[in-house]
Amino acid sequence: MPFIDRDFINDLPNRVDIVGLINKRVALKKAGKDYKACCPFHEEKTPSFTVVPTKQIYHCFGCGESGGVIDFVMKYDHLSFVEAIETVAGESGISVVYDQTAKPVDKRFKRYNEIMNELNNFYQGQLKTSSAKNKVVSYAKKRGISGSIAKRFELGFAPPGWTNLFDQYSEKEESIQDLLSMGMIVPKKDKKDDYYDRFRDRLMFPIHNAKGSVIGFGGRVLSSQDNPKYLNSPETPLFSKSKELYGLYHCRKYSRRIDSILVVEGYMDVIALHQQGITNVVATLGTATTPAHLQILSRSAETIVFCFDGDKAGRDAAWKALKTSLPSVTSGLIIKFLILPEGEDPDTLINRESSKAFSKRIEGAQTLSSFLIDHIKEEVPFDTIEGKTLFLEKSASLINLVNYSIYRQQLIEGIANAIGQNITQVEKAVELSKDQNTHFSNSNQAEHKQFSPQPMSQTISNKSHSSMKSLMSRMISCVLTYPSIVNDPETTSVIEERARKLPKSEVLLELIRHAQVESDLSKEALLKPYKSKERVYLRLQELSTMEPFLSEFEAQEEFGYALTAAEKYYERKSTKASILSAKTHDEEEAVMKSIMKNKMKTVNQKKTP
Ligand code: CTP
Ligand code: MN
Repeated sequence: MPFIDRDFINDLPNRVDIVGLINKRVALKKAGKDYKACCPFHEEKTPSFTVVPTKQIYHCFGCGESGGVIDFVMKYDHLSFVEAIETVAGESGISVVYDQTAKPVDKRFKRYNEIMNELNNFYQGQLKTSSAKNKVVSYAKKRGISGSIAKRFELGFAPPGWTNLFDQYSEKEESIQDLLSMGMIVPKKDKKDDYYDRFRDRLMFPIHNAKGSVIGFGGRVLSSQDNPKYLNSPETPLFSKSKELYGLYHCRKYSRRIDSILVVEGYMDVIALHQQGITNVVATLGTATTPAHLQILSRSAETIVFCFDGDKAGRDAAWKALKTSLPSVTSGLIIKFLILPEGEDPDTLINRESSKAFSKRIEGAQTLSSFLIDHIKEEVPFDTIEGKTLFLEKSASLINLVNYSIYRQQLIEGIANAIGQNITQVEKAVELSKDQNTHFSNSNQAEHKQFSPQPMSQTISNKSHSSMKSLMSRMISCVLTYPSIVNDPETTSVIEERARKLPKSEVLLELIRHAQVESDLSKEALLKPYKSKERVYLRLQELSTMEPFLSEFEAQEEFGYALTAAEKYYERKSTKASILSAKTHDEEEAVMKSIMKNKMKTVNQKKTP
């Protein structure tokens, strides 16, 4: 039997839509924030089976059955745990991650975990019992760390002295070997079997894995005269800094919902933010953001906000993070950048401002595309023709790192807008730079391909030349499955307006209007008016089964993407027609100009909903 990756199992319920999955099996009706139905697990006439999307659970007040989405599918579909995981993932368009390395747990790992746990207790105890505790307590106070937050993060103190750990364990040869493997003691030069403690006279930050076990430590000096300021555990069988994020365990434990996750640079940033009530935060451990980090982050939240200091190092790190992110961009994942004012980090800033002001900053973070364009603009003499050409070249090679075609197209549009050129020109530059194999190393990309999350909108993104017909079908399919996505009077009027401009959009328009009449219209009710038109009816029935199945959120996104793609497709067709009809160069230029003008207009319209 295959082993499924443990993290994957833990994360899966957060990544899927419980309402959509249950609704496929039992027709749910919206009741306030929740959904109701007659319980499938016992006989009843009035609905007492409730699905609570905010908690990702179901509960029946009649028979007491309750659980999460995996429990439901196990019970309803009569599946084993592994089969249920595979079913839920499959229906949500997520591919299951199997643990190829799963083998009986090595006894050493159990010992490593135990000794790290012991050391964590030891360091925490030293905060209370060490004869040198005063200076660390006053340091923590000076930095504004409260007692309860110190406890939450299990902060500790590595007392002064070279052999505290070594002395404690010197009788046990096996433990000494384990301390060595964990990098907690270091062999002395030229002296065999003699070791000194790695962490001395430092404020200790235990590093937990996602499950909450201590896998490493960071230690900070207490005086600005000492260095290095931070010392971290080296790479060990338990700890790899390129794969771990400080605070992930606490983020999950203390955040009710993780819609977005903030990625900061330092231990103290995570702690200070928690103390001010912002708990959806993690830190990279003194390294650049890696593809492995991105994979964990994209599984944890829909929006990732990278936060960097405003100095040169911070900006460089942000740029690096952007390049690492590009191959990971998929439908449903939003990546943003928050560059703080020069000389500030989240710790100093949130303590000087308020948590409210800091949250505002997070909300106002820059989108990846806007950050990309701004940054490249700064790198070139943008006001000159040469500068613009350079800008085009640089951005083209970055676009080639993006696998997700819808996002590629959006970036291409943004870049065309920035330099006032047409899209075809930018597309050409992108093709050219692909052939040239530019200065950006593609190793990242290869690494990413293996595990970048499956694009949810594959149906569209895989067919870069989707015909108008298939885009229209996709939109209809989304509306039939989730009429509620076109039920918001404000946004729907814009959608209607846009759909009306498309050719042959009558049926879609009709469906949109029907869906607005009543909020809880069933698929059957939506199809009913077409019963007399056999061909349309059969086609709509076909379209009403969504393949692959998407959650409501994904369907809404997909609908938006399909609409934009259809507009683009139509626009390109009409552009071609008018270009063909232009005879002189002047006429051609006039056509181009008017197209660009129109494009700017639609972009601006979309900006102000
Ligand atoms: N770091 C490190 N080794 C160093 C310096 C920094 O590993 N010699 C890592 C640590 O994880 C640290 C992060 O980089 O938390 C950010 O470092 P820096 O911005 O220099 O420090 P701050 O987080 O601002 O630390 P503090 O506020 O404690 O001065
Ligand atoms: Mn700091």
